[in-house]
This record gives sequence, C-alpha cells and structure tokens, in this order.
Amino acid sequence: MLLSMAKNANLGAAKNAKNDEFYTQYVDIQKEVNAYIEYNPDVFRGKTILLPCDDPEWSNFTKFFAQNFEFFGLKKLISTSYAIESKKYQTDWQPTLFETENPLYNVEKSRIKGKIFTLTHDTNNSGRIDIDDLQWSYLEGDGDFRSAEVTALRDEADIIITNPPFSLFREFMAWVMEGKKKFAVIGNKNSITYKEIFPLIKENKLWIGYTSTSLDILFTVPKEMEKDLITQNQGSAYKIIDGHIFARSASIWFTNIEHGRRHQPLQLMTMAENLKFNKKLKDLTEYQHYDNYNAIEVPFTDAIPSDYDGEMGVPISFLDKYCPEQFEIIGITKTWFGGACKIYPEQKQIDKNGKESKVSKLNDGPAILIKDTSNYSTYYQVGNNYYIQTYARILIRKKQ
Ligand SMILES: C[S@@+](CC[C@H](N)C(=O)[O-])C[C@H]1O[C@@H](n2cnc3c(N)ncnc32)[C@H](O)[C@@H]1O
Repeated sequence: MLLSMAKNANLGAAKNAKNDEFYTQYVDIQKEVNAYIEYNPDVFRGKTILLPCDDPEWSNFTKFFAQNFEFFGLKKLISTSYAIESKKYQTDWQPTLFETENPLYNVEKSRIKGKIFTLTHDTNNSGRIDIDDLQWSYLEGDGDFRSAEVTALRDEADIIITNPPFSLFREFMAWVMEGKKKFAVIGNKNSITYKEIFPLIKENKLWIGYTSTSLDILFTVPKEMEKDLITQNQGSAYKIIDGHIFARSASIWFTNIEHGRRHQPLQLMTMAENLKFNKKLKDLTEYQHYDNYNAIEVPFTDAIPSDYDGEMGVPISFLDKYCPEQFEIIGITKTWFGGACKIYPEQKQIDKNGKESKVSKLNDGPAILIKDTSNYSTYYQVGNNYYIQTYARILIRKKQ
C-alpha cells in the first residue's frame, strides 16, 4: 500500500515536471491579449510588463510583447528565464548562437543562472522598438520567481503575464496576488476549485480570461518530451497538427484585466419558458432542489431561469459566461467551504451493475432526493431515502 502510494506520488511528480515545460503558442497569447486591447486600447500604455518563468530566447510571450511594444505603448518589457540546471525536466539543452556569440556569454553561468531580458528603447537605431532591441544579462540567481531579485522585478512591474510552472501554480498565484498587480496567467482548469483560487473568483479579484474554457489550448514541448508524449493517448495527451506534435492540457487563462465578454449579460428564458422550450430539460417538469443546500439545480448554463431570485447551482463552465453585473457568485459545491446544510451519515452507493459499497462521498457535492431509482445508473441510499449527486456546481444568485 505504502509502496504503491509512493509510486503514484513519483508518477504524479514526473507528470508535473513535464507539464512545467509546456510552451505557449503565439496564437493563444495573441487571442487572449487582443481581447484586453479591444476592451481598452490603452490597457498597457505607459506600463511595465514582467514575463517571469519564461525562456525569452524562444518564448512567444517575449516575441509577442516585443513585436507589439510600440503599438501597445509599453514603457518597459522585462522577461526572465529559469536556469537550465534548476529545471525538474532535464533535456539535451545547448545554448543558442544568440547567447554564445554574445560578448556577455559565460560558459559557467550559462547553465546555472537565469537570464533577464529588457526592452525599453530603440538600441540599434532601426527607427523602431522591436525584438532586436532586447538587452540581456545573467541574473544573480537561477531565475526562480520566488527569489528576491525576481520579486523586486515583480514589484517594479505593473502587469505580470506568463504560463507559470504547472507544479507551482498555487505558489505562483500567491506570489502574484501578494504583489497586488494586474495579471494574465495560464493555469489548469481544475485550479478554479482550489481553495486558494475560488475565493478570489468569488470576490471578483480574479476571473476567467477571454479564451473559452471549452477550447483546447495546445502547447509545444521539448523534442525529448515529444517521443514520450506519442506513447500516450492521442487526442487526450497530445494532438498532431500539420505534422507537429502538441501537448494537450486542460488549461485556461486567469486574469484581473477587463475584457468585453465579461460584461455581456446572458440572454435567458424564464423558468416556465425553459421547462417548456429548452430541449435539454425535456425530462423535467420542474427544477430540482438540492437536499443538502438551499438552491435549485440548473444542469446547463442556458437553462438558468431569468426569473428565479434564490440560489442556483450551475455548471463550472458558467464562469465563461459570468457577467458580474448580472449574477453574484455565492460559493462552490466541490469543497463547499462549509456551505452544505446537511451531513449524511453512512451511505450505500449502488452502481450501474447493482454493486453496493459503503461511501461518504454524498457529502462532497450537491445531493438530490429521488423517488424512482430506475432512471439513474449510480445512486445512494441513506436509511430509506435515495439520492443522486450532481457534478460540482457554482452557486450563484441574480443580482438584485
Ligand atoms: C509552463 S512553462 C512555460 C514557459 C513560457 N512561459 C511559455 O509559456 O512558453 C514554465 C517555465 O517555468 C520554468 N520554471 C520552473 N520552475 C520555476 C521557478 N521556480 N521559477 C521560475 N521559473 C520556473 C520552467 O522550467 C519552464 O521554463
């Protein structure tokens, strides 16, 4: 048992180390950032942007912001990279010609120091500020975002933008929030339910970016990792597009920068209209009510009734459409944060094969009391009552 737990932990750590080296495509940065510009063309004007946890020599973040430096009206662009020796996933890395042919090149520092790239003005007198004007040097340390020198850069910056290491997402977000900066950061979709993240969503200190959460964000990976990726499931672990291998992970953008979609109220039908016309609700004669929380179950975002004033449990994908002027977020049923009004004693789970097992998981989410078990493949029995559990839900209420 202990051995298999240790093996699972090692496998998990190895997977996280690989995800730490997923690199963002230019088009995904462009799509997200352009939505901020569309909403407010001056959002970056006169600002200093820090791109930490980057690899500036080949990073699309650095390329994108350097190319748009003048158009966005930036004051300063800073990007920092993490030393190759400090990375958890080791590759057959060689310094680029850009580094080795530069007078600053230092064979010892090259592997163990992070690098800093800055862009402020036209250094090569080309008449414009662009990627060729980037200045670089080695950092004192390895470029760890938690170091004093990168933290000082965070404090100097107005906006932090990156795809940080997957394995340090919670720590990275705490670091960003501590700096009280504007940010746009890529993270795993599951992070929505983290106890460190959800309260920020609820308080409107962080929201989902413009890019839809149902869209696949695909990442490039080091060559060595490609070989390993293609031994996994095509479609879920990786995709091949135009002959190129891309890693897939359920990633989304988290930001506190405004974008237009966030202020478009959903067009909704009344409860009666939904029950009559919404095809997705065809089996319902009324909205179900949770047994362990005072809210109705709304299984689809487009089935949110426009005329219901109480609390409603809606799918997590609702956050894509969340307009703070229209709804208030009350909580989440994944961990409840102490919100459930009932704790069930021992429950019996009956699965689709009729197999019975003693569980406690009915307490982990919204439970609905059912009269007839024949429509459900898995249900729970507590005493003489039968229940089903829904997926994790966001609890919302119409803004009064
Ligand atoms: C997910 S990758 C993304 C790289 C780049 N931002 C992009 O999107 O293309 C995260 C990067 O952070 C680096 N990294 C890992 N741990 C770090 C740390 N503690 N501090 C700074 N960077 C770190 C990884 O080596 C990797 O280069």
